[in-house]
Amino acid sequence: MNGYRDLRVALLGCGSVGAQVARLLLEQGDELAARVGARLHLTGIAVRDLDAPRDVDLPRELFTTDAEQLVLGADIVVELMGGIETARELILRALESGADVVTANKALIAEHGPELADAAEQVGAQLSYEAAVAGAIPIIRPLRESLAGDHITRVLGIVNGSTNYILDRMDRFGDSAEDAMRVASELGYLEADPTLDVEGYDAAQKATILASIAFHTVVPVDAVYREGISGVTSAQIEAARHAGYVIKLLAIAERLTAADGTTGVSARVYPALISRDHPLAAVHGGKNAVFVEAEAAGELMFYGAGAGGVETASAVLGDLVSAARRHVIGGPGIPGSSHADLCVLPIGEVSTSYQIMLEVRDLPGVLAEIAGLLAEHGVSAASVEQTVADGAEGTATLVIGTHISREADLAATVDALRGSAVVTAVTSVLRLEGGA
Ligand code: NDP
Ligand code: HSE
Repeated sequence: MNGYRDLRVALLGCGSVGAQVARLLLEQGDELAARVGARLHLTGIAVRDLDAPRDVDLPRELFTTDAEQLVLGADIVVELMGGIETARELILRALESGADVVTANKALIAEHGPELADAAEQVGAQLSYEAAVAGAIPIIRPLRESLAGDHITRVLGIVNGSTNYILDRMDRFGDSAEDAMRVASELGYLEADPTLDVEGYDAAQKATILASIAFHTVVPVDAVYREGISGVTSAQIEAARHAGYVIKLLAIAERLTAADGTTGVSARVYPALISRDHPLAAVHGGKNAVFVEAEAAGELMFYGAGAGGVETASAVLGDLVSAARRHVIGGPGIPGSSHADLCVLPIGEVSTSYQIMLEVRDLPGVLAEIAGLLAEHGVSAASVEQTVADGAEGTATLVIGTHISREADLAATVDALRGSAVVTAVTSVLRLEGGA
C-alpha cells in the first residue's frame, strides 16, 4: 500500500507476548496502515539469544542483541522484555529521544511509573501500558479516558489469573490447595517464581496501577496492603459456600474517609468473600475481571483474558495503534494524572464486614462471652452459626458474620478472641467485599 509515511517501531523482547506482537504487526501491516494513516515499520526485535527457538517464524534479519542501538531513531518503542532495570533504562532513553513507549511491564510501571510518566510528559511523548493490568482487557484506557469525567469510588479486580484458577478449582471441583496449585503449575499458569502470584505480589503491582489511575494519585506499590492465597483452606472455601459466598483474590482500590475525616485512597490485595450473586463470582478459571464503581456511571465490569501471548498482544497493539495515530495527527501524548494527590490510607482505616470462624469450648455462657468481646471493641454480629462436629466432644465451631466494622476494631476483636479462655482457635478471618 503506497502513500503512507513510515513510523519506525522497535520491539524489545520476543517471548510469549513479543513474538505475537511481531507476527500481528507483520501479518496485518496493510490493515494497520489503513487504520493509522501511517505504516508501522518494524525496524528490529531485541532479544538476548539470537538462536533461541521462537513461537513464531519471523525474519531472522530483524533480530538483534543491541537493544540500545535499536531504540535510537525509533518513533515508537514496544518494551516486552520484562524485568526492571534494563527495561527502565531503555524506556527512559526512548522517551528522552521523543519516542512513544508501549509496555506490558506491570512490575516496572508499579515501581517506576511516576518517573517514566514524568519523562514522557517532559517531551510530550506517550507512555502506554494497557497490557500491564489484566492482559487483554481494556481497563487502563477506560479509567484514564472513558471515565475521565466521572468520579470513581471503588475498583475491585480479579487481576491474577493463576490464583483465580486455583481458588476456582478448590470451590468448584473440591480440589485441595496443593492439588489446585499443582494443576496450575502443570498448565504453566504460574510465574517462574510462583510466590509472585500466590502471595499477591503480582496483584499488588496491578492494584498500584489501578489505584493511581482511578484516583489521580501516586500510590507506591509498598503502600498496598497485601495478603496472598497461601493460607486459604478447603474449610474456608466450604464455609464460604455454605454462607452463599465465594473466595476470590481481590485487588481493591477505594476512595475512603479516614476516622479523622481525611479523604484518602486504600489499595489492598487479599482473599475476600464475595456474594455468589456478585458479577465477580462468575469469573471462573484463569479469567480476569475488573469491577468499577463510579458516581455517575454506576457499576461497570470489564472481563476477559488476563494473560496469554496473543491475548496480551491485542492490548499492546491497541496502544501501538493509538500512539501511532498521535504521530499522524500531532500533539503531545496524554500525560499521567496525579493532581488529586490523596494520602494512601493504612489498612486499619478500611471498613467492611467480616466472617470469623472460631473453635470454642461447648459450654454454657460461651456465646455471651464472645458477644461481649465483640461489643467491647465496637463490632456488631450480624449472624452466628454453631456446629458441633461428630466426635468433637466439648468443642464447637462458630461462624460469625459481622456488620460493617473498622479493620482496626476487628483486629483488636480478633486479638481479644485469641486471648479468651473459651476460644481454642481462631481458624479464619475473611473480609466480605462487594456488598452482602
Ligand atoms: P518472556 O520471558 O516470554 O519474553 C521475554 C523476551 O525478552 C525474550 O524474548 C527475551 O529474549 C527478551 N529479553 C529479556 N531480557 C532482555 C534483555 N536484557 N535484552 C534483550 N532482550 C531481552 O516474557 P513475556 O512475553 O511473557 O512477557 C513480556 C512482558 O509482558 C513482561 O513484562 C510481562 O510481565 C508482561 N505480561 C506478560 C503476560 C503474559 O501472558 N505472558 C501478560 C501480561 C503482561 P530471549 O528470547 O533471547 O531470551
Ligand atoms: N501471573 C499473572 C497471572 C500473569 O497469573 O495473572 C498475568 O499478569
